[in-house]
Amino acid sequence: FPLKKYNTFGIEAFAQKFVEVQTLEELQTVLHQHVNEPKFILGGGSNMLLTRNIEALVIHVNLKGKKVIKEDDDHVWVEAMAGENWHEFVLWTLEHNYGGLENMSLIPGNVGTTPVQNIGAYGAEIKDTFVSCETITIDGQSKRTFDREACQFGYRESVFKQEAKGIYIITSVVFRLTKRNHSINSNYGDIQAELAKNNVVTPTIKDISNAVITIRQRKLPDPKELGNSGSFFKNPVIPRTHFETVQAQYPDIKYYDVSPTEVKVPAGWLIEQAGLKGYREGDAGVHKNQALVLVNYGNATGQDILKLSQKVQQTVWAKYGIAIEAEVNII
Ligand code: EPU
Repeated sequence: FPLKKYNTFGIEAFAQKFVEVQTLEELQTVLHQHVNEPKFILGGGSNMLLTRNIEALVIHVNLKGKKVIKEDDDHVWVEAMAGENWHEFVLWTLEHNYGGLENMSLIPGNVGTTPVQNIGAYGAEIKDTFVSCETITIDGQSKRTFDREACQFGYRESVFKQEAKGIYIITSVVFRLTKRNHSINSNYGDIQAELAKNNVVTPTIKDISNAVITIRQRKLPDPKELGNSGSFFKNPVIPRTHFETVQAQYPDIKYYDVSPTEVKVPAGWLIEQAGLKGYREGDAGVHKNQALVLVNYGNATGQDILKLSQKVQQTVWAKYGIAIEAEVNII
């Protein structure tokens, strides 16, 4: 079964078997029917690089639905099923004037995978509004709720990339959003510039969303037009002592303070300064507007992209002695 349509990199790879489920009951039935078979769970396919065929039953989790499950004077608790498209969900919250997700507009993928890597952009992360998620074990035998603490969120990290990996399937997520007194987060320089350009002085959550959409469309390729998985690498966090030696050599280096002893460096800057922005090998390339993103110009294989990513890692390592780690899940 061809998976090209099911991964935003647009990689040609095949699944031994494929099934799509649209309800929790269907999911449970499929899991019970195939207890002893290897299984591979596929959500929005927006954060993975397929470098081989999948010799397993691929289960495409496409559960739909979103609703308010609780509210008080200031907040709503909204539950969305795993298969809801993330950006459509964000737009729906904005139509209802619920605040909290606007900075994460236009991130590709589905709701169910957002907790796995604690998605984030422009000063917000899923963990800021996340309440809990429902899961079912891959053997279909039990259900478990993970609250925020149980998820062990970190920068592009959670328990679902660690101990819980391969054990639980996320079926729905609950977020707590504001109904009024929204806390507007416009600290990010690009957002401020975009608001100023449009003469917006007191931005609404919709203004923030619109600004983020404009910025993302300018910098990040649309997977429908050019295959990609967003940031391919994480921004490395390095010891401050190491950072200071690199900074002595490259005084223009961008950075964010993480703690008194650690500094985060934008990998996009490192890659661009190493001369690789826009670099291309066949159909695998480093995006021309955002060097952190690798792209498939059409017929790149997963191996082509993987090779290019290794070249980027080696070049950055050779120049700065900084290791950059893939953020994308390499299969
Ligand atoms: N930069 C360059 N050249 C580049 C890219 C970036 O010099 O090619 C510099 C920028 O000028 C800026 C700094 O690096 O000074 C940071 O760049 P940017 O604001 O574009 O963000 P990023 O650190 O490259 C992260 C996230 C993105 C998220 C943006 C905005 C990670 C791995 N990536 O990228 O998330 O949209 O911040 O908040 O943390 C994703 O995870 O898929 C993703 C797109």
